[in-house]
Amino acid sequence: MTATPLAHLAHELAILEARGLLRERGARGAGPGSIDLCSNDYLGYRATGRLAAPARRAAAEHPAGAGASRLVSGDHDAHRHLETVLADWLATEESIVFTSGYAANVGAIAALAGEGDLIVSDALNHASLIDGCRLSRARIAIVPHLALEETRRALRGHPARRRWVVTESYFSMDGDAPDLRALRAICDEGEAALIVDEAHALGVMGPNGRGRAAELGVRPDVLIGTLGKALAAQGAFVAGSRDLCRWLWNRARSMVFSTGLSPLLASIAAASAVEARQDDAGRARVAATGTQLRVGLAQLGIAVTSAWGPILPILLGTEERALSWRRELVARGLGVQAIRPPTVPPGTARLRVTANAGLDSSRIERAIEAFGAVAGARL
Ligand SMILES: Cc1ncc(COP(=O)(O)O)c(C=O)c1O
Repeated sequence: MTATPLAHLAHELAILEARGLLRERGARGAGPGSIDLCSNDYLGYRATGRLAAPARRAAAEHPAGAGASRLVSGDHDAHRHLETVLADWLATEESIVFTSGYAANVGAIAALAGEGDLIVSDALNHASLIDGCRLSRARIAIVPHLALEETRRALRGHPARRRWVVTESYFSMDGDAPDLRALRAICDEGEAALIVDEAHALGVMGPNGRGRAAELGVRPDVLIGTLGKALAAQGAFVAGSRDLCRWLWNRARSMVFSTGLSPLLASIAAASAVEARQDDAGRARVAATGTQLRVGLAQLGIAVTSAWGPILPILLGTEERALSWRRELVARGLGVQAIRPPTVPPGTARLRVTANAGLDSSRIERAIEAFGAVAGARL
């Protein structure tokens, strides 16, 4: 009997499993009654049901599906409203929404950069930024994580039609951040445009939750934010000049050739953005939760490799170690996730603990006790 065309997959899957790299469905993180330490619901809007009323209203007023690409007939009032709310919040001329952060990054970068251009990209940028760079056909210079001098040198070193610097404002797996002021100066000096992905800072950092660039008084040329993390909805956006948004409307393939964001979700996301904008109490809770977790873990001798913000990586090295910590913490009622390659570089498997405003002090104490029990047997 001849093998079927996909017969090799069983073999490849067995290799992934043997190497501790297999991912199975059903990774719900926090099950009922467990303590959520791995979602990106930083302001706790899912956990606390804060969007339930806006969701009910949205369901009464907006269709679930856009019905077509927005360029065909799928452009709804809910999209326009959301784009106005976001642009107003971020003080940009306009914004344009996408169906996900992945789609926004891939679509925007590939629509902006092209053959003959140079993109300088941080080595730890998110996969969606990397894929956008690859799709653009520009030359890509990958610089060491957060390295300013290498960024400056890369911009100087290559002749290019146009130059772009791509970074995250608060790194998703590491909880650290670039010096955005210095990057802005380097871009200005090197005649490059600065593209900043604020996925993990929007709603959580900066004045009125406007993100880290706003906190530092830096204006990216292209600002990307997601609606599925602190805003607890789904989708993403690019904010910037009117021409930028008009260009993406015309040229971002993930926008042009894809059904528009659900109007229902767009409406919920707009309500969430209005809420997040004024939610200083939520931001204070995220910070307090992060501090309580950092202090508690440090007292147990568990090293957290980030100093601030809602992402607390605990580097464990091997896939096996990360998986066994996870298993035991889950058994003790914690929603934690093991992050393994290719999401992070080989040899840096980790637990990525996240702080969120939905956690109260007693739940965090319980979480720290669970860490103590699991670490006690190992450290
Ligand atoms: C930095 C960064 N950008 C973009 C994305 C993608 O966003 P979305 O989940 O909306 O596709 C993520 C999510 O993992 C992210 O961490």
